[in-house]
Amino acid sequence: MQACVITLGCQMNEYDTHAIQSQLAGIGYSFVDNIHDADLVLLNTCAVRGKPVEKARSILGALRKEKRRRPVTVGLMGCLAQLPEGQVMGAQFGVDFMLGPGALTDLIPALQQKGFTSFAFKDELRDYAPPPPQGVLSAHVAITRGCNHKCTYCIVPTTRGPEVSRPAADILREVEALRAAGVVEVNLLGQNVNSYGLEPGLGPHRKLLPGFPSFAELLRMVGQLGLPRVRFITSHPINFTDDIIAAIAETPAVCRYIHLPVQAGSNRTLRRMAREYTREYYLERIAAIRSQLPDATISTDIICGFPGETEEDFEETLTLYDAVRFDMAFMFIYSERAGTPAAKHFDDIPHATKVARLMRLIERQKYWSLQQYRRWVGQTVEVLVKGPAHEANLMQGHTRGNHTVVVPNTTAPRPGLYSVRIAHATPHMLYAEGAAVPEGGFVTTAVLN
Ligand code: SAH
Ligand code: SF4
Ligand code: F3S
Repeated sequence: MQACVITLGCQMNEYDTHAIQSQLAGIGYSFVDNIHDADLVLLNTCAVRGKPVEKARSILGALRKEKRRRPVTVGLMGCLAQLPEGQVMGAQFGVDFMLGPGALTDLIPALQQKGFTSFAFKDELRDYAPPPPQGVLSAHVAITRGCNHKCTYCIVPTTRGPEVSRPAADILREVEALRAAGVVEVNLLGQNVNSYGLEPGLGPHRKLLPGFPSFAELLRMVGQLGLPRVRFITSHPINFTDDIIAAIAETPAVCRYIHLPVQAGSNRTLRRMAREYTREYYLERIAAIRSQLPDATISTDIICGFPGETEEDFEETLTLYDAVRFDMAFMFIYSERAGTPAAKHFDDIPHATKVARLMRLIERQKYWSLQQYRRWVGQTVEVLVKGPAHEANLMQGHTRGNHTVVVPNTTAPRPGLYSVRIAHATPHMLYAEGAAVPEGGFVTTAVLN
């Protein structure tokens, strides 16, 4: 029996895919990349914006064709499956079963029963923690699932349900098993990792649940297990407290990479997005991080063209860029999601205006990325090389600060940790000594001097 699991969306979905595969492997499946070779195809979907939903629709179309030609079982899973929109789509394309992201433990019954659906969120996360992947150097570990926030544009709280923290003992056991299997980097995952262990609710003053460590304490515990690298993603600014900054500063294994989505630079937009903080609060958190962790990489997520975003509001996002100097930013055009509070507003920004704003953000970000990346030119850094780069004779990996680095394959013949000297920087890439910058790639010095 051969299965093909297609993954769209974020790292949480990658983690879930691994959990799905480990359940399938347990009942005798092996895995193929091509749907034409598979007896079972599972589509692990994303619904955060229109694009991944369209992608899922086109894959479902291809799968319907395949089903007409030969017997193949198709399951619709992931965030889209949790929504009415996805369930209508699943029925329309004739999938055999649907499972929401909180119902992964129902996979085996679903395989046995045509028309099976399950969308209830289950609490017991411990039951399907995947075993360590073979020969992999970097692995995800979910520490929380779901989200309690109510950002007005966002569908994730609906698709993933309320926030649940996994017991620390389960997390530590899973990380330990990964370490024993040769993994050198773990990435602690959650929609908002830094509200790990907190009581249900919102805001900066949530208390700890009985028996749970805080996120800061968890970082220290995981950091002591002997892994060279511990990462975490994503953090919410409202709970990014000083004790977390101190835990990062004092735990050598914890990478100094902080992804702190701000979403917008104007207080008016932040309020209308229900982000729970102001621009000033965010900038104060950045200042706290920079004072304790001067070499930290800081990245963010931005939405442009939120309903009612004026030119003045947008320009405050640009001035925030200048104030923070992010290393990296993931920039999105607002995409209306049915059922979210923001969808009640008129999506009033013309697409061309959204695109023009996005382009201005990208330009500004490129400038700051280049400034930040060039800090590493001339320095010797640790790179986790994961595999071949696109260009010939180069391998690719990441620094502790999550910058992509290319390294000559003579220096790094196989995946692993290496120490390399950075010779050049572009806004997206660091080049280790001996790695030529491809034609057209522009080098730091050419721009700045
Ligand atoms: N839990 C994280 C990320 C959630 S989704 C957080 O709170 O920051 C990842 C990113 O997708 C978000 O940070 C946001 O920038 C973007 N996003 C979410 N909903 C969106 C929408 N409706 N349109 C455009 N971008 C969206
Ligand atoms: Fe969505 Fe906001 Fe929750 Fe992030 S914090 S997942 S943006 S609702
Ligand atoms: Fe997408 Fe669900 Fe992740 S909507 S971004 S796959 S949490």
